[in-house]
Amino acid sequence: MRKLSYFIATSIDGFIGAPDGDGEFFTQWVDGEFIDYLTSEYPETLPTPGRIPLGIDDLENKHFDTVIQGRATYDVGLKVGCTSPYAHARQYVVSRSLAESPDPAVEIVSGDVVAKVRALKQEDGLGIYLCGGANLAGQLVDEIDALVIKTYPVFLGSGMPLADAGFALREFTLDSVRSFGNGAVVTTYSRKR
Ligand SMILES: NC(=O)c1ccc[n+]([C@@H]2O[C@H](COP(=O)([O-])OP(=O)(O)OC[C@H]3O[C@@H](n4cnc5c(N)ncnc54)[C@H](OP(=O)(O)O)[C@@H]3O)[C@@H](O)[C@H]2O)c1
Repeated sequence: MRKLSYFIATSIDGFIGAPDGDGEFFTQWVDGEFIDYLTSEYPETLPTPGRIPLGIDDLENKHFDTVIQGRATYDVGLKVGCTSPYAHARQYVVSRSLAESPDPAVEIVSGDVVAKVRALKQEDGLGIYLCGGANLAGQLVDEIDALVIKTYPVFLGSGMPLADAGFALREFTLDSVRSFGNGAVVTTYSRKR
Protein backbone atom coordinates (compact mmCIF):
# COMPACT_ATOMS: atom_id res chain seq x y z
CA MET A 1 0.00 0.00 0.00
CA ARG A 2 1.25 3.49 -0.82
CA LYS A 3 2.08 5.88 2.01
CA LEU A 4 0.96 9.44 2.59
CA SER A 5 3.97 11.56 3.64
CA TYR A 6 3.69 15.08 4.98
CA PHE A 7 6.81 16.81 3.63
CA ILE A 8 6.90 20.29 5.09
CA ALA A 9 9.11 23.23 6.14
CA THR A 10 8.79 24.59 9.67
CA SER A 11 10.36 26.99 12.12
CA ILE A 12 12.06 25.66 15.28
CA ASP A 13 8.79 26.23 17.12
CA GLY A 14 6.74 24.30 14.60
CA PHE A 15 5.13 26.91 12.39
CA ILE A 16 4.92 26.41 8.62
CA GLY A 17 4.62 30.11 7.97
CA ALA A 18 3.48 33.47 9.30
CA PRO A 19 -0.02 33.66 10.78
CA ASP A 20 -1.37 34.12 7.22
CA GLY A 21 0.66 31.10 6.05
CA ASP A 22 3.32 33.04 4.14
CA GLY A 23 6.54 31.02 4.29
CA GLU A 24 8.55 32.86 1.66
CA PHE A 25 11.15 33.82 4.30
CA PHE A 26 12.13 30.13 4.67
CA THR A 27 13.75 30.26 1.23
CA GLN A 28 16.76 32.14 2.72
CA TRP A 29 17.93 28.78 4.13
CA VAL A 30 17.54 26.96 0.84
CA ASP A 31 21.18 27.36 -0.13
CA GLY A 32 23.61 25.33 -2.26
CA GLU A 33 24.22 22.40 0.13
CA PHE A 34 20.53 22.15 0.96
CA ILE A 35 19.43 22.38 -2.68
CA ASP A 36 21.92 19.61 -3.52
CA TYR A 37 20.36 17.44 -0.78
CA LEU A 38 16.78 18.09 -1.92
CA THR A 39 17.76 17.53 -5.53
CA SER A 40 19.36 14.18 -4.82
CA GLU A 41 16.94 12.89 -2.14
CA TYR A 42 13.57 14.48 -2.93
CA PRO A 43 13.72 15.89 -6.48
CA GLU A 44 9.95 15.55 -6.94
CA THR A 45 9.27 18.02 -4.12
CA LEU A 46 10.96 20.82 -6.05
CA PRO A 47 8.26 22.63 -8.02
CA THR A 48 8.49 22.78 -11.80
CA PRO A 49 9.43 26.50 -11.94
CA GLY A 50 12.42 25.70 -9.67
CA ARG A 51 13.48 22.52 -11.50
CA ILE A 52 13.76 24.10 -14.94
CA PRO A 53 16.42 26.73 -14.02
CA LEU A 54 18.35 24.07 -12.06
CA GLY A 55 18.37 21.89 -15.18
CA ILE A 56 16.86 18.97 -13.25
CA ASP A 57 13.40 18.78 -14.78
CA ASP A 58 14.14 15.32 -16.20
CA LEU A 59 15.14 13.76 -12.83
CA GLU A 60 13.16 10.68 -11.88
CA ASN A 61 10.83 10.81 -8.89
CA LYS A 62 12.36 8.96 -5.92
CA HIS A 63 9.73 8.86 -3.15
CA PHE A 64 6.52 10.35 -4.52
CA ASP A 65 4.66 10.29 -7.82
CA THR A 66 1.48 11.92 -6.57
CA VAL A 67 0.98 15.24 -4.80
CA ILE A 68 -2.05 16.57 -2.96
CA GLN A 69 -2.43 20.11 -1.71
CA GLY A 70 -5.07 22.47 -0.40
CA ARG A 71 -6.40 25.23 -2.62
CA ALA A 72 -4.74 27.97 -0.52
CA THR A 73 -1.35 26.29 -0.98
CA TYR A 74 -2.00 25.89 -4.72
CA ASP A 75 -2.93 29.61 -4.82
CA VAL A 76 0.65 30.58 -3.90
CA GLY A 77 1.87 29.41 -7.32
CA LEU A 78 -1.33 30.33 -9.13
CA LYS A 79 -0.85 33.98 -8.15
CA VAL A 80 2.41 34.03 -10.13
CA GLY A 81 0.91 32.19 -13.08
CA CYS A 82 1.95 28.63 -12.20
CA THR A 83 -1.05 26.38 -12.89
CA SER A 84 0.88 23.07 -12.80
CA PRO A 85 3.47 23.31 -9.99
CA TYR A 86 4.41 19.60 -9.95
CA ALA A 87 4.18 18.69 -13.62
CA HIS A 88 6.34 15.56 -13.00
CA ALA A 89 3.65 14.05 -10.68
CA ARG A 90 -0.08 13.37 -10.59
CA GLN A 91 -1.52 16.47 -9.03
CA TYR A 92 -4.61 16.84 -6.85
CA VAL A 93 -5.88 20.14 -5.45
CA VAL A 94 -8.57 19.99 -2.80
CA SER A 95 -11.18 22.70 -3.24
CA ARG A 96 -14.87 23.44 -3.04
CA SER A 97 -14.56 26.89 -4.62
CA LEU A 98 -12.72 25.98 -7.84
CA ALA A 99 -15.47 25.02 -10.29
CA GLU A 100 -12.96 23.76 -12.81
CA SER A 101 -9.25 23.08 -12.80
CA PRO A 102 -7.01 25.89 -14.06
CA ASP A 103 -4.82 23.24 -15.71
CA PRO A 104 -5.55 19.88 -17.39
CA ALA A 105 -2.69 18.33 -15.37
CA VAL A 106 -4.39 19.19 -12.07
CA GLU A 107 -7.42 17.30 -10.77
CA ILE A 108 -9.75 19.04 -8.34
CA VAL A 109 -10.95 16.98 -5.35
CA SER A 110 -14.17 18.39 -3.95
CA GLY A 111 -15.68 15.35 -2.29
CA ASP A 112 -14.54 13.30 0.68
CA VAL A 113 -10.78 13.97 0.82
CA VAL A 114 -10.06 11.18 3.33
CA ALA A 115 -11.80 8.66 1.05
CA LYS A 116 -9.85 10.02 -1.92
CA VAL A 117 -6.51 9.56 -0.12
CA ARG A 118 -7.47 6.07 1.02
CA ALA A 119 -8.28 5.18 -2.61
CA LEU A 120 -4.98 6.64 -3.83
CA LYS A 121 -3.12 4.57 -1.23
CA GLN A 122 -4.59 1.40 -2.74
CA GLU A 123 -3.07 2.16 -6.14
CA ASP A 124 0.36 0.98 -7.28
CA GLY A 125 3.25 3.38 -7.49
CA LEU A 126 5.45 5.61 -5.39
CA GLY A 127 4.22 7.48 -2.33
CA ILE A 128 1.83 10.41 -2.00
CA TYR A 129 3.29 13.80 -1.12
CA LEU A 130 1.04 15.80 1.19
CA CYS A 131 2.14 19.33 0.39
CA GLY A 132 -0.02 21.20 2.91
CA GLY A 133 -1.27 23.50 4.20
CA ALA A 134 -2.41 23.30 7.79
CA ASN A 135 -6.09 23.04 6.94
CA LEU A 136 -5.71 20.04 4.64
CA ALA A 137 -3.08 18.38 6.86
CA GLY A 138 -5.47 18.68 9.81
CA GLN A 139 -8.16 16.76 7.95
CA LEU A 140 -5.68 14.12 6.80
CA VAL A 141 -3.72 13.84 10.04
CA ASP A 142 -4.93 10.30 10.75
CA GLU A 143 -3.95 9.23 7.21
CA ILE A 144 -0.35 10.49 7.51
CA ASP A 145 2.04 7.52 7.45
CA ALA A 146 5.35 9.40 7.41
CA LEU A 147 6.76 12.83 8.09
CA VAL A 148 9.66 14.64 6.46
CA ILE A 149 10.17 17.80 8.48
CA LYS A 150 12.57 20.47 7.24
CA THR A 151 13.26 22.63 10.30
CA TYR A 152 14.86 26.00 9.69
CA PRO A 153 16.78 27.85 12.43
CA VAL A 154 14.23 30.55 13.17
CA PHE A 155 11.83 31.01 16.10
CA LEU A 156 8.58 32.71 15.08
CA GLY A 157 6.52 32.82 18.29
CA SER A 158 3.27 32.47 16.38
CA GLY A 159 2.19 31.44 12.93
CA MET A 160 0.43 28.74 10.94
CA PRO A 161 0.73 25.35 12.68
CA LEU A 162 1.81 22.12 11.01
CA ALA A 163 -1.81 21.00 11.05
CA ASP A 164 -5.15 22.36 12.22
CA ALA A 165 -5.89 19.19 14.15
CA GLY A 166 -7.36 18.39 17.52
CA PHE A 167 -5.19 17.29 20.42
CA ALA A 168 -4.22 13.60 20.44
CA LEU A 169 -1.10 11.50 21.04
CA ARG A 170 -0.17 10.45 17.51
CA GLU A 171 3.04 8.50 17.85
CA PHE A 172 5.84 8.30 15.31
CA THR A 173 9.20 6.51 15.17
CA LEU A 174 12.26 8.60 14.37
CA ASP A 175 13.91 7.23 11.20
CA SER A 176 16.63 9.75 10.39
CA VAL A 177 18.15 13.10 11.24
CA ARG A 178 20.32 15.11 8.90
CA SER A 179 21.76 18.52 9.75
CA PHE A 180 23.21 21.14 7.43
CA GLY A 181 25.81 23.89 7.75
CA ASN A 182 23.14 26.59 7.50
CA GLY A 183 21.36 25.28 10.63
CA ALA A 184 18.59 23.45 8.79
CA VAL A 185 17.70 19.95 10.02
CA VAL A 186 15.68 17.31 8.18
CA THR A 187 14.02 14.69 10.36
CA THR A 188 12.02 11.77 9.04
CA TYR A 189 9.48 9.74 10.98
CA SER A 190 7.21 6.75 10.39
CA ARG A 191 3.78 6.41 11.93
CA LYS A 192 3.42 3.85 14.71
CA ARG A 193 0.22 1.97 13.89
N1 LIG B 1 6.07 25.72 5.08
C1 LIG B 1 5.67 24.92 4.11
O1 LIG B 1 6.40 23.99 3.72
C2 LIG B 1 4.30 25.11 3.50
C3 LIG B 1 3.82 24.11 2.66
C4 LIG B 1 2.55 24.25 2.13
C5 LIG B 1 1.80 25.37 2.41
N2 LIG B 1 2.30 26.34 3.21
C6 LIG B 1 1.50 27.55 3.47
O2 LIG B 1 0.23 27.16 3.93
C7 LIG B 1 -0.69 28.19 3.57
C8 LIG B 1 -2.02 27.56 3.19
O3 LIG B 1 -2.48 26.70 4.22
P1 LIG B 1 -4.00 26.74 4.71
O4 LIG B 1 -4.08 25.86 5.90
O5 LIG B 1 -4.45 28.14 4.79
O6 LIG B 1 -4.81 26.14 3.48
P2 LIG B 1 -4.70 24.80 2.61
O7 LIG B 1 -4.79 23.60 3.48
O8 LIG B 1 -3.57 24.89 1.66
O9 LIG B 1 -6.02 24.95 1.72
C9 LIG B 1 -7.28 25.11 2.35
C10 LIG B 1 -8.34 25.08 1.28
O10 LIG B 1 -8.43 23.76 0.71
C11 LIG B 1 -9.78 23.47 0.40
N3 LIG B 1 -10.22 22.36 1.21
C12 LIG B 1 -9.76 21.96 2.43
N4 LIG B 1 -10.41 20.87 2.84
C13 LIG B 1 -11.30 20.54 1.87
C14 LIG B 1 -12.23 19.51 1.71
N5 LIG B 1 -12.41 18.56 2.65
N6 LIG B 1 -12.98 19.48 0.58
C15 LIG B 1 -12.81 20.40 -0.38
N7 LIG B 1 -11.92 21.43 -0.29
C16 LIG B 1 -11.20 21.49 0.83
C17 LIG B 1 -10.57 24.73 0.67
O11 LIG B 1 -10.48 25.46 -0.53
P3 LIG B 1 -11.71 26.29 -1.14
O12 LIG B 1 -11.75 27.54 -0.33
O13 LIG B 1 -11.32 26.52 -2.57
O14 LIG B 1 -12.92 25.44 -1.00
C18 LIG B 1 -9.76 25.39 1.75
O15 LIG B 1 -9.97 26.79 1.81
C19 LIG B 1 -0.08 28.95 2.43
O16 LIG B 1 0.09 30.31 2.81
C20 LIG B 1 1.26 28.30 2.20
O17 LIG B 1 2.29 29.25 2.00
C21 LIG B 1 3.53 26.22 3.77
